[in-house]
Amino acid sequence: MKDLSNKKILFIICGGISAYKSLETIRLFRKNNAEIKTIVTQNAKKFITPLTVASLSQGKVYEDLFNIENESEMDHIALSRWADVIVVAPITANTITKLSHGSSEDLASTVILASNKQIFLVPAMNVRMWEHQSTKINLKTLKKYGYKFIGPVIGDMACGEYGEGKMSEPLDIYNEIFNFLSNQFKNEKIKALVTAGPTNEYIDPVRFITNKSSGKQGYEIAKSLSKRGFDTTLISGPTSLNVDKNIKLIEVETAEEMFNATQKNLPVDIAIFSAAVADFKVNKKNDNKIKKQENLTISLEKNIDILSYVSNHNSMRPKLVIGFAAETNNLDFNAISKLNDKNCDWIIANDVSKKDRGFNSDFNEVTIYYKNSQDKKEKLFLKRKSEISEEIVDRIVSKTN
Ligand code: PMT
Repeated sequence: MKDLSNKKILFIICGGISAYKSLETIRLFRKNNAEIKTIVTQNAKKFITPLTVASLSQGKVYEDLFNIENESEMDHIALSRWADVIVVAPITANTITKLSHGSSEDLASTVILASNKQIFLVPAMNVRMWEHQSTKINLKTLKKYGYKFIGPVIGDMACGEYGEGKMSEPLDIYNEIFNFLSNQFKNEKIKALVTAGPTNEYIDPVRFITNKSSGKQGYEIAKSLSKRGFDTTLISGPTSLNVDKNIKLIEVETAEEMFNATQKNLPVDIAIFSAAVADFKVNKKNDNKIKKQENLTISLEKNIDILSYVSNHNSMRPKLVIGFAAETNNLDFNAISKLNDKNCDWIIANDVSKKDRGFNSDFNEVTIYYKNSQDKKEKLFLKRKSEISEEIVDRIVSKTN
């Protein structure tokens, strides 16, 4: 894919002597027909002019947060939604600090904070600033939040010093973004289905059996898939989570509804079953609220296994079927049994016996078990569910591209 006609890039230029390299990067993207809008910060205007940016990018240049003309045409939220990818080049130590604290004091930081897209940061600063402990801590935070970095590289600096902190060259920035957009382009044709959250199995009209799943892990996976361009459908049990507009959300309550919704949305290329589906449903739901009584016996029957149904489908089995395994003991044995019994390509097992991970936590630690692979298992150590999801989707991308 050389032609980037359908791709939209939002450039954010911060104040730094390397700002001129962003102009050259923009020129490279325009050569391949990408559509470009740019935000120049107040400090950036000391190094480059909005007029130069407008002429080179042939697109709109934004400067202020509350500019009536801009806001009526495209407000800051719409601007962050417009882009396929956001590139902040150069990003200074100051803006890195602001982003790590979630600041939204100007147009650039507000658009970034409001974005649901992949954001690339291209740092440029003095070697001492780059190596400072506070910068290192901020970088770690930003990586956790899912920002991707291009550079910096080692070299002679404008200030006369030598070391790491020099902004990457325009062609290197171009190539990295180009690869991301090419993958996004390929992924747009790939359908992914994710199940998430708990199911509610009703005993009577007001009582049900459920579990502690919050849906966080599945929602993060759907978000990571969608950010990489996959055509993503999320079938979710009851949760209190929000979902990005570009993900097709289907809300269900019971396992039976989740099964019906899954069936309706086949065929897909990739299916990821992270929902904690109740294994049993109440044999006969009471039509009226059950009155208080000394003893109550509830008869349960097995729910259909949605994952097994899909992975054993004759004509519509997805190319990649990924199941989860929630375990409290014998992780290896139970995960491998599920991999085989449920005919999955991968099983992602998590230990749900600990409070700091798994169910209803922002963190998780998982082991991926692969069928037909040399590396039969791979552990992703304890980290945010958003990071776990990014790493799972990295592996899906390498498998599908
Ligand atoms: O939602 P969170 O709070 O973020 O927590 C995440 C999680 C712990 C729920 C998630 O990481 C997880 O482990 N999901 C699977 C939970 C589960 O039900 O595991 P299981 O071992 O009982 O089921 C194995 C697999 O079969 C799962 O992929 C499950 O979705 C699927 N299944 C199970 C029963 C059924 N009737 N239909 C199914 O599709």
